Amino acid sequence: MDRQAELNIIRAAYAKQILAAAWITDNARLEAALSATRREDFLGAGPWWILRRFGDYVTTPDADPVYLYTDDLVGILPERRLNNGQPSLHAHLIHQAAPAAGDHVVHVGTGTGYYTAILAHLVGPSGRVTGIEYEPELAARAKTNFASRPNVEIVEGDGTMVSFDQADVIYVNAGCTRPAESWLDRLADGGRLILPMTSDRGFRATAPERMAREGAVFRIERRGQDYLAYWISPVAIFPCAGSRDEASERLLAEAFAKGGLQKVTRLYRNQEIPDERCWLRGSGWCLAYS
Ligand SMILES: C[S@@+](CC[C@H](N)C(=O)[O-])C[C@H]1O[C@@H](n2cnc3c(N)ncnc32)[C@H](O)[C@@H]1O
Repeated sequence: MDRQAELNIIRAAYAKQILAAAWITDNARLEAALSATRREDFLGAGPWWILRRFGDYVTTPDADPVYLYTDDLVGILPERRLNNGQPSLHAHLIHQAAPAAGDHVVHVGTGTGYYTAILAHLVGPSGRVTGIEYEPELAARAKTNFASRPNVEIVEGDGTMVSFDQADVIYVNAGCTRPAESWLDRLADGGRLILPMTSDRGFRATAPERMAREGAVFRIERRGQDYLAYWISPVAIFPCAGSRDEASERLLAEAFAKGGLQKVTRLYRNQEIPDERCWLRGSGWCLAYS
């Protein structure tokens, strides 16, 4: 058997393992996307830096792509602890975002594009993905990686500021202390925003209970002028440029300490919700219980 045929089998097994690790039993499209997307095409030449337990990077023994088909994070700028995210976390979040064929997905924090490619596979040739990446070096790598892909556009810039067309899914891959106004404005009716929120301690957290307290991903779905919101995952993730500030970080840390994030049901864009119904109140918005 030639090496590519062997890797196709390894990738198919990986797709099944990742879905199982994310407790997903009914998403054949996502399994096909994971199975079809070559992680090695997005991570530069091997050997690669794998993030092992206790936060240490270990290089793979050699440049065999087999080492990329595990549920591990891989350093893309390891000196800054900036990684290609954990496959089972992304499988869970993408499953929750539910990109459909024909959708427009905006991916904030594309990195070098591995999960952008999975999103592009899910929306298919009738859909499109706009990948926004803040770090010029990574945006340049992503542009090269998608040069021949007509349904993916890579934009270098700050995803809280870059203007984009109305989106069915906005998939944010960096930790915020507040949602960007443009994400809420540009979400289509029925659209889903995947929003990781992290306090300053969230990025360094390692134990699961700390992550649950200090980093949380919310799924926000627009229904006309309303926004349904609920907690979908703990998270520890690289900070989002442009969507953090000291005051909202302090309020978020207090909200994590208070608890109750799993009872959130709505995001409101006003100041009218009484304090006892707010889990977190920002300036002109809140995450609240119904
Ligand atoms: C945890 S890394 C994930 C990269 C990629 N999604 C992956 O898994 O390979 C977070 C990425 O978000 C980018 N980022 C942070 N703030 C951003 C912003 N405001 N707009 C666009 N990208 C941003 C970082 O430069 C980094 O590449």
